[in-house]
Amino acid sequence: MTSVIKLKNVSYRYPVGDDDVLKDVSFSIEKGKFTAIIGNNGSGKTTLCNTIRGFVPHFYKGNLEGEVMIDQIKMEDYQLGQLGEKVGYVFQNPFIQVSGVKDNVFEEVAYGLENLGVPVEEIKIRVEEILKLVKIEHLRDKNPTGLSGGQRQRVALASIIVMNPEILVIDEPTSQLDPIGTEHIFDIIRLMKERGKTIVLVEHKMDLIAEYADDLLVMHEGELVLQGPVREVLANPALEQYQIQYPHVTEVALQLQKEGVPLSFIPIRAEELAEALNMNGVAKHD
Ligand SMILES: Nc1ncnc2c1ncn2[C@@H]1O[C@H](COP(=O)(O)OP(=O)(O)OP(=O)(O)O)[C@@H](O)[C@H]1O
Ligand SMILES: [Mg+2]
Repeated sequence: MTSVIKLKNVSYRYPVGDDDVLKDVSFSIEKGKFTAIIGNNGSGKTTLCNTIRGFVPHFYKGNLEGEVMIDQIKMEDYQLGQLGEKVGYVFQNPFIQVSGVKDNVFEEVAYGLENLGVPVEEIKIRVEEILKLVKIEHLRDKNPTGLSGGQRQRVALASIIVMNPEILVIDEPTSQLDPIGTEHIFDIIRLMKERGKTIVLVEHKMDLIAEYADDLLVMHEGELVLQGPVREVLANPALEQYQIQYPHVTEVALQLQKEGVPLSFIPIRAEELAEALNMNGVAKHD
């Protein structure tokens, strides 16, 4: 498989900082994979996202070492606009993303396509489709600046996926949403994956990561400390030292294991618990 995002020995320091906030980070992500990034506050998740979309170091300046390749092309060989079409980025803070120049949600979602010079008729069709997909049709005439945090998160996501980028980098899209709104965002991300998009998601909600993501990157104080398929990373005893929350079922299972209950494997999804316990737990009667 081809890697669409590749970082090799990347270290980065903001212009005003004394320390590297990314420390010798290396990983690669294959086309079509859904990768979740987790880690405590300040561990470098957002900085890593900004590196993937070229804002580190182009916009933030500072000192970047190592190599970043997007779609097999070195970061420095891209024009910023060119990369912007390939990498769609949804901000951690939905209050930043709203353009501030459009009076209603429909126009806000259409804004990026307008800038690309897409014909008006096509814009209408694409925006209608996305409003429906993201379930914000009822907000179409509302002023974006008057929306709640959760509504803004959906509008922000819509205004990026309408551009149809190959790579989606989404930084904590559900922080302002209730459980139903959160599930819904994951439904959309899953649909994007089905459409072949490569997805990088920063998220704390581990139950949903365990259910949907393929791979997991764990950041800790600027270092990428663990990486691999979600199931392998969650079963790695080294994870415990980074104060990462486990999926609920994993937490329960690990506690049982500590108390001497044998597990046939470490469950990461609720429906796996019975199987993980049964296979070893059932007494043999022969
Ligand atoms: N623009 C900036 N200038 C200087 N330092 C910054 C800047 N942005 C972030 N930092 C610092 O870089 C480190 C990593 O921050 P970053 O925002 O990438 O972490 P994060 O894992 O996304 O955190 P959170 O969970 O709070 O979103 C922190 O120590 C932060 O204070
Ligand atoms: Mg962040």
